[in-house]
Amino acid sequence: MANPILQACDLTFRYTTAEGVAPTVLDQVNLTIEAGTFVAVLGHNGSGKSTFAKHLNAILLPSGGKVYVDGMDTVDENLLLDIRRTVGMVFQNPDNQIVASVVEEDVAFAPENLGVPSAEIRRRVDEALEAVGMTEYARHAPHLLSGGQKQRVAIAGVLAMRPRCIVLDEPTAMLDPVGRREVLDTICQLNQQLGMTVVLITHHMDEAARAQRLVVMDNGHVVKDGPPAQVFQDVVGLRRMGLEVPDSVALMYELRQAGLDVPLDVLNPEDCARAVAQILPR
Ligand SMILES: Nc1ncnc2c1ncn2[C@@H]1O[C@H](COP(=O)(O)OP(=O)(O)O)[C@@H](O)[C@H]1O
Ligand SMILES: [Mg+2]
Repeated sequence: MANPILQACDLTFRYTTAEGVAPTVLDQVNLTIEAGTFVAVLGHNGSGKSTFAKHLNAILLPSGGKVYVDGMDTVDENLLLDIRRTVGMVFQNPDNQIVASVVEEDVAFAPENLGVPSAEIRRRVDEALEAVGMTEYARHAPHLLSGGQKQRVAIAGVLAMRPRCIVLDEPTAMLDPVGRREVLDTICQLNQQLGMTVVLITHHMDEAARAQRLVVMDNGHVVKDGPPAQVFQDVVGLRRMGLEVPDSVALMYELRQAGLDVPLDVLNPEDCARAVAQILPR
């Protein structure tokens, strides 16, 4: 690849528990992510997604194999700060990620800890709040915001570190539909307008459908990897792994089962309507 920013090479991982070494959770995972791409990761519970994500900014270190972040080996302690600056992480629960009682102070928290000069912090906080559409809430109390707004503040906090890559582990899992949409639109903008590399772990098929590339994990392995329109065509295979497909693909699949000639690579309601209109008698 031209410009890989994240690279897992034969990545194997086992948690060490009180009872000794637990089973293999990641088994020789090989995955390269090109800078500037938007990759979604799907997989049922326990397939190893969060464990994988935590390797991408050295929260966890490989039991075997290697992880490189912009060419930096994550086991090299001297590079830890650079690695954490390159890859920001956003987690499921926004309440656990908010540390200050005013939005802009919360966003300033990480760069302040890094000793960034205050004029520079001001600039970064303004930019980050702008990027997530939360400028008007700068002086608000985070705990009074909606779930979607809180999660966008959490994303702004990561952006203030100026990472090149952002890894989000089920960031919409605790949000209502409005919050989910706000957060997903924000994520898409970060990728499309700022060129950030995005790794989005999700269990919502409609979110995964908006990525450029879709990686499916099962039992510690990468089992599918390709554009969403292609990966979602394997309706039967995905269902066998306990996964669904977007509603539009599911509908097309049923129509095909009923003998109608419709395409399967239909990822949104608009294309779905178009495909149905094509087969209606005129
Ligand atoms: N801290 C831990 N200690 C021991 N086992 C763990 C720990 N965290 C996760 N696991 C196990 O690792 C496997 C993968 O978990 P995880 O990466 O959280 O999957 P996912 O995010 O896809 O649901 C599961 O079997 C889970 O029980
Ligand atoms: Mg998880």
